[in-house]
Amino acid sequence: MEPPEMINAGALVLKRWELAWAEELTAAVRESLPELKPFLPWAADDYELASARAYLADSDQRWEKGTDFQYAVFTTIGDLIGSIGLHTRRGPDTMEIGYWLRTPFAGRGHTTAAVRTLTRVVSALPGITKVAIVHDVRNLASGRVAEKAGFTEAARRVTEAGDTEIIRERPAGDC
Ligand SMILES: CC(C)(COP(=O)(O)OP(=O)(O)OC[C@H]1O[C@@H](n2cnc3c(N)ncnc32)[C@H](O)[C@@H]1OP(=O)(O)O)[C@@H](O)C(=O)NCCC(=O)NCCS
Repeated sequence: MEPPEMINAGALVLKRWELAWAEELTAAVRESLPELKPFLPWAADDYELASARAYLADSDQRWEKGTDFQYAVFTTIGDLIGSIGLHTRRGPDTMEIGYWLRTPFAGRGHTTAAVRTLTRVVSALPGITKVAIVHDVRNLASGRVAEKAGFTEAARRVTEAGDTEIIRERPAGDC
């Protein structure tokens, strides 16, 4: 069973990404590049409308296949402030959450709130017993978001590029 296409998260609304938001996505990524580039491989100086369109088309296909579920994050007054997604790559009992936030909106607890809500939502999906967040050991903000939402370190791994990642997990359920 797939997660809902729209999720009310208090001061935020999560909506399945739509191709119509490609220009706004481009603007959000471009203005956040200094913060995104260190940790997200797709965030590069040449990010443009075509990059956003390709990402949105791919996200749409992945949603249809049931492998990844990507949401745009909006404030209740309609500002597009970031993205948060669910990934099934860690196995049938686990949902992994990934996220980035538009820089001017960072540091206000938005990502933590979105992670908490999404954790609660995926916990209602059949067979999901664990939720995971994976982040670079140097990504203190991401680690803090995960920690605040109740995710504890389960393991570390070194990537092909030689970076150390922390895998954090928490049991499914309210958070
Ligand atoms: C990680 C990210 C999504 C956090 O979004 P956010 O909405 O600012 O997160 P929140 O406001 O909910 O919480 C951020 C926490 O990190 C802390 N923090 C921020 N920068 C930090 C830093 N450099 N060192 C330590 N803590 C830091 C904040 O103080 C806050 O913790 P607090 O509530 O205890 O004060 C955002 O910084 C981002 O988009 N980063 C670039 C992309 C990225 O790294 N994505 C995650 C990949 S795993």
